[in-house]
Amino acid sequence: MGKVRIIAVTNQKGGVGKSTTVINLSACLAEAGKKVLAIDVDQQGNTTSGLGLDKNGMEQTIYNVFLNEIGIEDIRHKTVVDGLEVIPANISLTGAEIELIGKENREFVLKEELAKIKDEYDFILIDCPPSLNLITVNALIAADTVLVPIQCEYFALEGLEQLLYTINLVKKRLNPELAIEGIVFTMYDARTNLSMQVVEEVKRSLGNTVYRSIIPRNVRLGEAPSHGLPIHLYDPKSKGTESYRLLAEEVMDKEWN
Ligand SMILES: Nc1ncnc2c1ncn2[C@@H]1O[C@H](COP(=O)(O)OP(=O)(O)OP(=O)(O)O)[C@@H](O)[C@H]1O
Ligand SMILES: [Mg+2]
Repeated sequence: MGKVRIIAVTNQKGGVGKSTTVINLSACLAEAGKKVLAIDVDQQGNTTSGLGLDKNGMEQTIYNVFLNEIGIEDIRHKTVVDGLEVIPANISLTGAEIELIGKENREFVLKEELAKIKDEYDFILIDCPPSLNLITVNALIAADTVLVPIQCEYFALEGLEQLLYTINLVKKRLNPELAIEGIVFTMYDARTNLSMQVVEEVKRSLGNTVYRSIIPRNVRLGEAPSHGLPIHLYDPKSKGTESYRLLAEEVMDKEWN
């Protein structure tokens, strides 16, 4: 097994496809034979439920890890996908930020916990909340790279500058090795000029970090989470499956040292 790659999937804009990408990219990487861990650090728990776990029934979640009540190695759950495990989150995480006030090294909790288990995996994907809070900073410090989903819509670029600024700040002060994994376009609608314009505009400013695979708007991708299944098990023949498999290939092909 080569070196693990820890990817934070982040964008402080809400509803751009972060969780959908973590669920389905993780699943497609595992389908390709990789050992994968998906970590939910969003109180909405969408990755948790989207991978088939009963988030509200969970007694121990990433919240307890942040408070040092339990080790991360003890809250890993198997999923319906062979080779894919998940660390759950739910609404309990809401209070964590406040409870961490005053704690020494509070930005480094996730990194320190992951050090114990990361070598068991090829890929670790972290689903971030839609904000640039302390939990997101924990993810950016624990990560090797950042993957940014961008929804192909009018306000897509709004906030991107702030996000890149934050990433650079973390890089300068706290995690010098942090790199941009790539930008992935989501909910692309080939029928609209707008989708094409957004793609062109982002490519102009961020060219080489943009993935060739583009995730289309696909009804099946929206339905799958309510069945607790990743797209390749919910509808193997869908456009959504095809696009996330292609993205997984691109991610696997990209070499980092
Ligand atoms: N490619 C797609 N085609 C159709 N629906 C999609 C697609 N990607 C995501 N969705 C749907 O859009 C909504 C938002 O997606 P998702 O939850 O992945 O975004 P998010 O960035 O994680 O949101 P949040 O910021 O709230 O965590 C969900 O209902 C999801 O099922
Ligand atoms: Mg989400």
